Amino acid sequence: MASRGLAIIFLMLPQLAHCLTGSIPLNSELSAREDQSWISENGTFAFGFTSAGRGDQLLLAIWYAKLPGDPTIVWSPNRDLPVGREAVAKLDQLGNLVLVDGNTTVWISNTSSLGVEYGVMSDSGSFILYNRSSSNRQVAWQSFWHPSDTLLPGQPLFVSLELTSPKSSLGLYSLKMLQQRTSLSLALTYISPEPYFSSLGSHANYSYWSSPEISNATGDVIAQLFESGSFGIRYGTSSTGTMYVHKNDSAGNQSILRRIAIGMDGNLRLYRWDNQWVVEWSAVPNPCLVAGICGSGVCSMDNSKSNAICTCLPGTSPVGSGIKGCLSSSIPSPQGNCSGTRNRSIRMETMPQTNYYFSGASTISNYSSVSRGSECAELCLADCNCVASVYGLLEAETCCWTLRSMVFGGLQDPSSTLYVKLGMNSSRTQEQGPPGEGSNGPTSDSPRSGVLLPLLLCVSVLVVLLCLLLCYIIRRRRMQQRQGMISGSLSLPGCPVHFSFHDLQTATCNFSRLLGTGGSGSVYKGTLRDGTLVAVKKLDKMLPHGEREFITEVTTIGSMHHMNLVSLCGFCSERSHRLLVYEYMSNGSLDKWIFPSNNGQERLLDWQTRFSIAIAIAQGIAYFHEQCRNRIIHCDIKPENILLDEKFCPKVSDFGLAKLMSREHSHVITMVRGTRGYLAPEWVSNRPITVKADVYSYGMLLLEIVGGRRNLDMSLDQEEFFYPGWAFKEMMNGTPLKASDKRLNEGVPDEEEFLRALQVALWCIQEDAWMRPSMGEVVKMLEGSVEINVPPMPQIVLELVAEGLHSVYRAMKGDCFSRPTTSSAITCQRSSKATYSYSTMSPR
Ligand SMILES: *[C@@H]1O[C@H](CO)[C@@H](O)[C@H](O)[C@H]1NC(C)=O
Ligand SMILES: *[C@@H]1O[C@H](CO)[C@@H](O)[C@H](O)[C@H]1NC(C)=O
Ligand SMILES: *[C@@H]1O[C@H](CO)[C@@H](O)[C@H](O)[C@H]1NC(C)=O
Ligand SMILES: *[C@@H]1O[C@H](CO)[C@@H](O)[C@H](O)[C@H]1NC(C)=O
Ligand SMILES: *[C@@H]1O[C@H](CO)[C@@H](O)[C@H](O)[C@H]1NC(C)=O
Ligand SMILES: *[C@@H]1O[C@H](CO)[C@@H](O)[C@H](O)[C@H]1NC(C)=O
Ligand SMILES: *[C@@H]1O[C@H](CO)[C@@H](O)[C@H](O)[C@H]1NC(C)=O
Ligand SMILES: *[C@@H]1O[C@H](CO)[C@@H](O)[C@H](O)[C@H]1NC(C)=O
Ligand SMILES: *[C@@H]1O[C@H](CO)[C@@H](O)[C@H](O)[C@H]1NC(C)=O
Ligand SMILES: *[C@@H]1O[C@H](CO)[C@@H](O)[C@H](O)[C@H]1NC(C)=O
Ligand SMILES: *[C@@H]1O[C@H](CO)[C@@H](O)[C@H](O)[C@H]1NC(C)=O
Ligand SMILES: *[C@@H]1O[C@H](CO)[C@@H](O)[C@H](O)[C@H]1NC(C)=O
Repeated sequence: MASRGLAIIFLMLPQLAHCLTGSIPLNSELSAREDQSWISENGTFAFGFTSAGRGDQLLLAIWYAKLPGDPTIVWSPNRDLPVGREAVAKLDQLGNLVLVDGNTTVWISNTSSLGVEYGVMSDSGSFILYNRSSSNRQVAWQSFWHPSDTLLPGQPLFVSLELTSPKSSLGLYSLKMLQQRTSLSLALTYISPEPYFSSLGSHANYSYWSSPEISNATGDVIAQLFESGSFGIRYGTSSTGTMYVHKNDSAGNQSILRRIAIGMDGNLRLYRWDNQWVVEWSAVPNPCLVAGICGSGVCSMDNSKSNAICTCLPGTSPVGSGIKGCLSSSIPSPQGNCSGTRNRSIRMETMPQTNYYFSGASTISNYSSVSRGSECAELCLADCNCVASVYGLLEAETCCWTLRSMVFGGLQDPSSTLYVKLGMNSSRTQEQGPPGEGSNGPTSDSPRSGVLLPLLLCVSVLVVLLCLLLCYIIRRRRMQQRQGMISGSLSLPGCPVHFSFHDLQTATCNFSRLLGTGGSGSVYKGTLRDGTLVAVKKLDKMLPHGEREFITEVTTIGSMHHMNLVSLCGFCSERSHRLLVYEYMSNGSLDKWIFPSNNGQERLLDWQTRFSIAIAIAQGIAYFHEQCRNRIIHCDIKPENILLDEKFCPKVSDFGLAKLMSREHSHVITMVRGTRGYLAPEWVSNRPITVKADVYSYGMLLLEIVGGRRNLDMSLDQEEFFYPGWAFKEMMNGTPLKASDKRLNEGVPDEEEFLRALQVALWCIQEDAWMRPSMGEVVKMLEGSVEINVPPMPQIVLELVAEGLHSVYRAMKGDCFSRPTTSSAITCQRSSKATYSYSTMSPR
């Protein structure tokens, strides 16, 4: 042990001898062979050669000199051009900083004309070359002006600068300020290896994260990581600017090391040193929200909800080993003749539950009056420039986009469908597996193929025959199973009836009376033969999975009987048709009754009705959370999914998104479902989803019921636009009734009940799932049979206050209401907007 320690000390001795601190005169040299470095005065940073992580390759770099383990590189001029053992870095006679490898100059600072006198490795992490003008030393050049992927405390990121991630075969990511005509915003952009269609020079890019826009900024606009640990933009002289991360670490005089870096995975992270690098904040909560993470392929999350899985588009192949993702180049896009008739050798491949990132430049056009996915596929098929189309939602309207290129990648998204144009014999989509599999192409000139071919043929014929037989057997067994299940369920009283598609067509007058369209399908009004009114839900785009899952879902829903749940009368499953038949609710959904309507017909529920509705909804949810044989997480609780019968008895509907959860298995499900605004924070972090996610959504819903307004309403002023924050403030001031619905002029809420409801709601929206009450407890609290403590300020409110109400309000108002639809660097596309609104509301 001791001898080993001694050996290490001896090994370090020559190195120490070569370390230089203080100013570095002209004609100084660092040799890679001798492992020399220049150290900053207090020893925090070192400048020299360090391993690039690949064999004998070296980088000229700046790194933290005192930290154990592999060096953390904060700057390197030759990231993409590593050098060998013979390399030399020198500050030459002319004042250039030069990196020479053998006979080639790998990199040069070009500072010979600036009168450089000496260099300094500064304690802040910048390598500085000084010159002198009228006896004052002046910075002629410094590494801070040419950042790589890291921003250090105090390092200014000017409008002209950018951080870039190391390049890979899938392109790279950049953090820079995007300039619009009158405003600018800090954005993360994916720069693909593909050139744009029109202009060859620049690469196709897509901004997947952007900060609130800054308009009318005066003076220099600078993004900066502050010594306190905050990260944000400052501009002008007096103004504080905009902050994304708030910290106030004034921990005496001990210095905390922090850095911000953009990773190969496109995420921007703030790290703090605490015996290792700890992530304090990241810009994007989920790897699939980064464009190009799979190259041109489609990203989905694995079962642990922490790793991205890539699926290649039809006709593309995975890139080599080591990197996930698919090659974006050479997607074979079959070009039909536009003017001629339909080219029969071209078809559209459907990729359900998939969305795709596209910029203005990659969009041909958009159609808002498209009611079915197949229509969207047709639109692309008919256009010879189109390679794919996306069918999805744009502010609750279905919309179809036709695309001329596919380079930014896609992501799993239950509300969208992707159609990809393919030649008849292109291969299907492939999961990214280990490379090299199944790539043994036909070796035509091999002499053995003459013998192998007939043999292969025989074998394949046999295999095909066996497959057919197997399919037949499986299908027959399935049919029997299904019939068994259906007849079994028919024999039980109160269970859903099996309708034929024709029955339902007749009952709904061929689906002519549309009641509404939700995430999972359209709902039509119908009348059964015996005169019962029903609501028929046609699951047209949500359920790509098989019949078995559908039957499972139906039996689950059918087994739920509670006064506050919409009951299922029947279902239909024929060919591709999947329909559910529910009891009809004459008063429609709750949102029409609690929010101010804009068509003048004001419908208003008085306080007593509202309060009893809130309790009844809680009872309904508590039933399927706690009292039912199959525990269920609804995942999409919101006013639109609460229906009211003629006596205003509320019923929870739409289990289309709910996923069965067996008690003995886990309390965790994986897919991201639900509606933003009501989504619990665990959906976007990597924490497990439990029934407490529904409690969070219920809390948001309860606030909207008592407030009689949407939680986020930009038509109101800065004080009131975010209801949870306003209500919390009024509650703490002892004036909760100020936050009550002003339209209730006579039926003023009972102050005690109103306060109780507010407190329950604020407990429900706590960040930590364990702090939220169970639905059973919510019922008791609302009924007043248990005491309620004063809730702590919910994190979402806290963050808003920390960020500065005024700036958030201004930014959101400016951003989502008056965004010019001009530039090609689109930052408010559907997907990125979603990300954006999350990062505004919840920087962490
Ligand atoms: C460097 O240049 C010299 C003379 O021009 C030449 O002889 C030598 O081979 C070169 N070395 C390398 C590694 O290119
Ligand atoms: C220095 O000048 C050369 C020649 O003009 C140029 O190729 C190189 O990119 C410059 N280096 C830097 C760091 O600007
Ligand atoms: C080194 O100097 C920098 C810049 O002055 C300072 O922030 C840091 O705390 C110092 N570190 C130590 C270990 O003294
Ligand atoms: C010193 O460097 C600055 C910054 O590049 C430059 O503007 C200035 O002209 C230089 N001074 C002299 C005397 O060369
Ligand atoms: C994205 O591409 C556009 C068009 O070529 C270009 O003007 C813009 O600078 C690019 N943005 C980034 C961040 O590279
Ligand atoms: C920006 O400046 C223009 C002209 O000075 C002014 O009309 C506009 O209201 C300002 N916008 C904001 C958001 O302050
Ligand atoms: C940071 O905290 C100190 C005391 O802990 C306080 O004096 C200072 O005003 C705070 N700074 C900010 C920007 O909040
Ligand atoms: C700084 O830290 C040293 C030792 O850690 C302590 O003795 C000194 O009082 C501190 N100074 C201040 C201003 O906190
Ligand atoms: C149809 O498309 C295929 C593949 O792109 C092409 O080879 C063929 O010539 C096309 N036929 C017509 C009639 O345009
Ligand atoms: C498309 O077909 C029409 C007639 O069938 C022909 O005149 C035209 O040249 C074709 N265009 C292309 C691009 O092949
Ligand atoms: C998409 O539709 C919007 C308005 O609905 C329009 O402003 C925009 O130009 C359209 N984009 C394209 C690429 O057609
Ligand atoms: C389809 O496959 C055949 C044989 O593999 C090939 O010759 C033909 O070019 C392919 N057609 C298309 C449109 O890719």
